[in-house]
Amino acid sequence: MYLFPLLLSSLLPFLSGTVAQDDNIECSDSSLQTYLVSLIDVLYANGLTIYEDLLAEIVQADSGYDLLSSFESATSLTLLVPTDAAFQTAGIWSPFADQGETDLANLVAYHTLSGGWNYSSFPGSPSHGVASTMLGMASYANDTTSGSEAMQAMILMQGEGGTIVENSIYGNATTWGNPLDLSGTGLNNLVILPINTVIGFPVNLSAAVTMPTTTRSTHGLTKLTTAFDAVSSNGAAALDGVTSKGFTIFAPVDDAWTGEASTQANDSKVAPTMLGNHYTTSYSLYSAGWSSGSFPNLTVVSGQTLSITSNSSGAYIHMGTQSALILRSDITLENGVMHIIDAVLLAEDVSSSAPTTIATTNSGSATGAGTGTGAAQADATSTRSSYGSSSNGASSGASRVVAGKGAVTAMTMTLLATVIMVIQ
Ligand SMILES: *[C@@H]1O[C@H](CO)[C@@H](O)[C@H](O)[C@H]1NC(C)=O
Ligand SMILES: *[C@@H]1O[C@H](CO)[C@@H](O)[C@H](O)[C@H]1NC(C)=O
Ligand SMILES: *[C@@H]1O[C@H](CO)[C@@H](O)[C@H](O)[C@H]1NC(C)=O
Ligand SMILES: *[C@@H]1O[C@H](CO)[C@@H](O)[C@H](O)[C@H]1NC(C)=O
Ligand SMILES: *[C@@H]1O[C@H](CO)[C@@H](O)[C@H](O)[C@H]1NC(C)=O
Ligand SMILES: *[C@@H]1O[C@H](CO)[C@@H](O)[C@H](O)[C@H]1NC(C)=O
Ligand SMILES: *[C@@H]1O[C@H](CO)[C@@H](O)[C@H](O)[C@H]1NC(C)=O
Repeated sequence: MYLFPLLLSSLLPFLSGTVAQDDNIECSDSSLQTYLVSLIDVLYANGLTIYEDLLAEIVQADSGYDLLSSFESATSLTLLVPTDAAFQTAGIWSPFADQGETDLANLVAYHTLSGGWNYSSFPGSPSHGVASTMLGMASYANDTTSGSEAMQAMILMQGEGGTIVENSIYGNATTWGNPLDLSGTGLNNLVILPINTVIGFPVNLSAAVTMPTTTRSTHGLTKLTTAFDAVSSNGAAALDGVTSKGFTIFAPVDDAWTGEASTQANDSKVAPTMLGNHYTTSYSLYSAGWSSGSFPNLTVVSGQTLSITSNSSGAYIHMGTQSALILRSDITLENGVMHIIDAVLLAEDVSSSAPTTIATTNSGSATGAGTGTGAAQADATSTRSSYGSSSNGASSGASRVVAGKGAVTAMTMTLLATVIMVIQ
């Protein structure tokens, strides 16, 4: 504890300096300062010093200051705090020379969940919960008609021994046992869970479908990539075009591309319609959206309507007489979500007006997908003004998150190097 006054004295000038520069902050300066000092005290006492440094760093810029102000004003938040070892593995430590202020604030926002989460909030593996982070995607959230800000989601489940596992395309990050003891700290609205990995920002769709997998031979997504390649001179760019306004994609595994599916994928006239049966471009539908029973039928890019049912065998998507089993749900991606399915949804009327390109047909189809937009937004977004203070986070509010485009940074690339994507 001897060092603590030094830490305070190094932080306080930043706090007061920032306060003085920012006239728009309505909360009491001294109140926020007291709150952050308490938070830093707790982090320091628990050896979480790089995260502590990170907070002291981001508070100096507007984006970080806004985020930390919202910590204080939020009803309930969960902070996933990477350990010092985790930050070191990710190549992130003070003075954070390689990272921009916005990226650093985004990193903290992505590790902050709306609502108070703990072990018993989640089902055991392979079921999972969907939490809403505080990483907003304001500039790409314009397709949400309410004009409110959409948030990126995070997938969490019960691990062994009381831990919580964060499950992303990168693999797992794990908390241990209980949250930090915050009694007597005044941090009544926080749950703080140390975590053993810095969670990288979600990758974009084209990166996701081309990442190496341990089971590529049968359950990889190379054939989907091939099919996109066949209808565009630049398949990867076409895929990323899908993500420009938020999306949901049902991605068939490699071993589904047999017979008629393979034929259609190789027919440049039919392939766009067939592929268009698998994604929508206006919002992100997470599994809680259909398991809650309030699922709005989804109009996909081809103009077809998908419905989803669940029974003891799992969740199925249906299009006309065709069905596919959802093998893995809720793979969060930059600006959207991917669900892995076991069958290709074939184009049924190949003479119908097929889109001529993939990416450029998005605006029309986004309108068509509006059926689901309202319901998807209603409980899934929170505005900047109530940033983090929504009580929706821990309940159904977190179930569907309309996601915008997230930032991919140098940090993400560092993390990517050690990533293996696993599709079961
Ligand atoms: C854990 O979360 C559940 C559900 O949100 C809540 O009912 C319970 O009180 C929480 N437990 C603790 C110890 O915070
Ligand atoms: C979102 O809407 C705002 C206000 O209409 C506009 O300034 C901004 O360019 C839009 N962003 C995108 C990505 O369309
Ligand atoms: C992540 O954790 C879950 C739950 O413990 C486990 O089932 C899964 O195999 C893990 N995934 C990886 C990639 O380690
Ligand atoms: C998608 O991600 C990859 C890998 O990070 C990157 O090279 C590519 O530029 C991204 N595409 C878009 C459109 O952002
Ligand atoms: C296209 O046809 C080739 C040759 O038959 C096959 O190897 C490939 O898998 C097909 N493409 C898809 C996406 O099925
Ligand atoms: C969704 O589609 C199914 C099957 O076509 C239909 O039975 C159901 O009524 C539709 N639900 C809504 C909300 O439109
Ligand atoms: C579950 O639904 C799917 C699709 O409708 C169906 O094929 C399957 O037989 C059903 N399973 C059970 C156990 O009812």
